[in-house]
Amino acid sequence: MANDEFFSEKLRVPEALTFDDVLLRPKESHIEPDEANTETRVSRNVTLTVPVLSAAMDTVTESDMAIAMARHGGLGVLHRNMTEEEMAAEIERVKRADELIIRDVVTARPDQTVREVDEMMDRRGVSGAPVVDEDDRVLGIISATDVRPYLEVGERDEVREAMTDEVITAPEDVTPREALELMYDHKIERVPVVDDDDHLVGLVTMQGILQRREYDSAARDENGRLRAGAAVGPFEEERAVTADEAGADVLFIDCAHAHNRNVIESARAIAGSVDADVVVGNIGTREAAEEIADFADGMKVGIGPGSICTTRVVTGAGMPQITAVSQVADVARQHDIPVIADGGIRYSGDAIKAIAAGADAVMLGSYFAGTDEAPGRVVTMNGKKYKQYRGMGSVGAMKSGGGERYLKDTDDEEEEFVPEGVEAATPYKGTLESELHQLVGGMQSGMGYVGAETIPEFKERAEFVRVSGAGQQESHPHDVVITDEAPNYSPDQ
Ligand code: XMP
Repeated sequence: MANDEFFSEKLRVPEALTFDDVLLRPKESHIEPDEANTETRVSRNVTLTVPVLSAAMDTVTESDMAIAMARHGGLGVLHRNMTEEEMAAEIERVKRADELIIRDVVTARPDQTVREVDEMMDRRGVSGAPVVDEDDRVLGIISATDVRPYLEVGERDEVREAMTDEVITAPEDVTPREALELMYDHKIERVPVVDDDDHLVGLVTMQGILQRREYDSAARDENGRLRAGAAVGPFEEERAVTADEAGADVLFIDCAHAHNRNVIESARAIAGSVDADVVVGNIGTREAAEEIADFADGMKVGIGPGSICTTRVVTGAGMPQITAVSQVADVARQHDIPVIADGGIRYSGDAIKAIAAGADAVMLGSYFAGTDEAPGRVVTMNGKKYKQYRGMGSVGAMKSGGGERYLKDTDDEEEEFVPEGVEAATPYKGTLESELHQLVGGMQSGMGYVGAETIPEFKERAEFVRVSGAGQQESHPHDVVITDEAPNYSPDQ
């Protein structure tokens, strides 16, 4: 029988590849890995210093994780298993974390006694306070040092006696450098920030400026605040507007299959009603990318690659991730839209392969779920430490948030869920900073092997080779017993 007769048309199918099927072809290089610049765009208007996002999952990203991610140059995407009000508060917490100007300022009144103010400063954990009149106009500033002699001798004295009334103030557009210069010149540690009519709008402190300096590669907006991402359901326009008003920089349409007419129409409407960038996902094909290219500020790719996903086995549908990313990137490139590869990344090598396939950034869940900054507590099982990690399509997560991501109507409480994810535990890993250091360090080394100094150059220059089953075996440690765990490799990842 000839080959043509043997195969039915249905089985003339293309092959789709994933991480283990390919390796980066080493190329001549003039750059050292540490010199590789990992700056990238995550959406049309948002740039990060490292091309990494933490997943919008209730065991991965709340404000602690989002703050840590942004401080180290990436982006945390807040999950949406919380009310709109809770989400707004979480976004505000991230945006305020490293703000140059503290807006929620502890103030004193001139007619309070020094003892009252001393107690108030103690209670609120501050060592100084601007003194304001009833219209919030700045009259002076008082510090613990000003108060101390009065407490010793005449504790009933009023603040107006003890305060410094020649106050050095700064305008609202003060830069960190200008504020520091004011502080050095006048030997002070805090400067009230006032508007044109001398009304207090905030406070800049020496401690705040020095803390910001520690994170010199943080992902910040044009006002110096940390970047924040937030997930919204495909039909949650109200949540999108609330998150936008709370200051989110990027909204992520959170859907397991965004190539769906209703989802696309709704995402388009959301994009039209917010200032934030809107990343649309998840998709995994060229056709889906074409459908959203006219309004999406970013495209997120991943149909079933996630470590806790059962989508492919439950539904029989999916797209191996390297092929999915490269198909979407083919279209996104023509429209200058960034691409995010979401899910399935176990090692730094997978992350840089996703970028080689055409992604501008990668999103990870399991890699970060075991860190201190992820929600949830550490549990010990058989002497080893773990943290909980569950799919957003697992029964537990859907019960606490709903199945909208999977386009399921879950209003009917009697109805049983058809989950597309599992609930699991992941080894406890310590700080996010050290995990991210390993991840980004490995990615930079990958850039070194290909000889590319920047992410755009790497995307251009990287080439893949196909790997056989034998090649895959050769890639991992073999014929040895590992005696000491490496910080960036575990055989059962
Ligand atoms: P990793 O592999 O980094 O994947 O742990 C995280 C990504 O997986 C997606 N996700 C799910 N996919 N069922 C799925 O099919 C689920 O229950 C589920 N929960 C999360 C999501 O895109 C995430 O960023």
